[in-house]
Amino acid sequence: MTCDYIKLANGGVQRLQPYSPGKPIEELERELGIRDIIKLASNENPLGPSHKALEAAKRALEQVHLYPDGAGFSLKAALAEKLGVNSNQVTLGNGSNDILELVARAYLQPGEETVYAEYAFAIYPLVTVACSAKPVMVPAHLYGHDLAAMADAINQNTRIVFLANPNNPTGTWFNDVALDRFLERVPEDVLVVLDEAYFEYVEESHYPDGLRRLARYPNLIVTRTFSKIHGLAGLRVGYAVSHPDVADILNRVRQPFNVNIPALAAAEAALDDVDHLENSRCENTAGLGQLVEGLNQLGLEHIPSVANFITVDCAGEALPVYEALLREGVIVRPLGGYGLPNHLRVTVGTARENERFLNALAKVMKAGAR
Ligand SMILES: Cc1ncc(COP(=O)(O)O)c(C=O)c1O
Repeated sequence: MTCDYIKLANGGVQRLQPYSPGKPIEELERELGIRDIIKLASNENPLGPSHKALEAAKRALEQVHLYPDGAGFSLKAALAEKLGVNSNQVTLGNGSNDILELVARAYLQPGEETVYAEYAFAIYPLVTVACSAKPVMVPAHLYGHDLAAMADAINQNTRIVFLANPNNPTGTWFNDVALDRFLERVPEDVLVVLDEAYFEYVEESHYPDGLRRLARYPNLIVTRTFSKIHGLAGLRVGYAVSHPDVADILNRVRQPFNVNIPALAAAEAALDDVDHLENSRCENTAGLGQLVEGLNQLGLEHIPSVANFITVDCAGEALPVYEALLREGVIVRPLGGYGLPNHLRVTVGTARENERFLNALAKVMKAGAR
């Protein structure tokens, strides 16, 4: 080969490490030849999607010879009404990941900086580096965002700050007072992406709603998704709510048909299914309690979580525990890539799945897999 196609790529992309997703069930089936596998690795809703969403997606399949409505008019209108914002503030994405990338692509120039927290969602540095910009990581405080230190890290090169509330993979959160104190300190020409992918799961009374702050802080971009509590991860729909001018810019860089026809229909139907949402939230709260109790019984520490997953300290190297769990047919997520080599992240499953995970964990820990 005469040409080096790695070196030919733009500088930022050459330095990228691809995002490492949770192991798919089919892959483990192929590798170990085992059946009856449970996946608690990607923070999906174990109850599945709303039946209303599923029916809407099935009906929409009849239309897939046509391009989708590129403007997503109907879903945007439904979101605007539900969220108490205007349609021109909404940007639709192929998952909220798509939105995170759009923001980076639209606003970052090579050499500019983004600020994000240690142990924060891996996509923030990834989309930054892909634009040949510089991700500035701010050390965490008790595994969560140190908002004061993050405000201190903003300088004249900073274009974007990424905040995850709650954060993945730690499940940590910050309250309304802390958020407002932070936003007051951010210059207007620095965008703040407030990633609320797990918003609907949180039951804390001082948990802030980013949308209620948009009028006061025009540099705020709130992102949410249909992948988590709505159970539509496989269809890929997320959205941002922002100042209309920011939405205008994001819509300029967005692919014209970035959300497909079944996804648009399912998301709109899911918005209406309040019972499914409530049920999912209640099941999650119960499941989180079940996991905490089980981990306590095993004498294992965890990071307190308000989301649909929990991060466990294996009190030693977690990778052997992860691998032993795979052999038990349980897929969780090792966090070495996040600088947490002793931790595993476990998605809250159904009561039976949680029990199966806890039993498998007890077995592998007893066998000395740590
Ligand atoms: C904090 C956070 N933000 C965004 C996403 C992206 O989700 P999606 O692209 O499915 O909307 C995830 C997915 O795990 C996440 O944990």
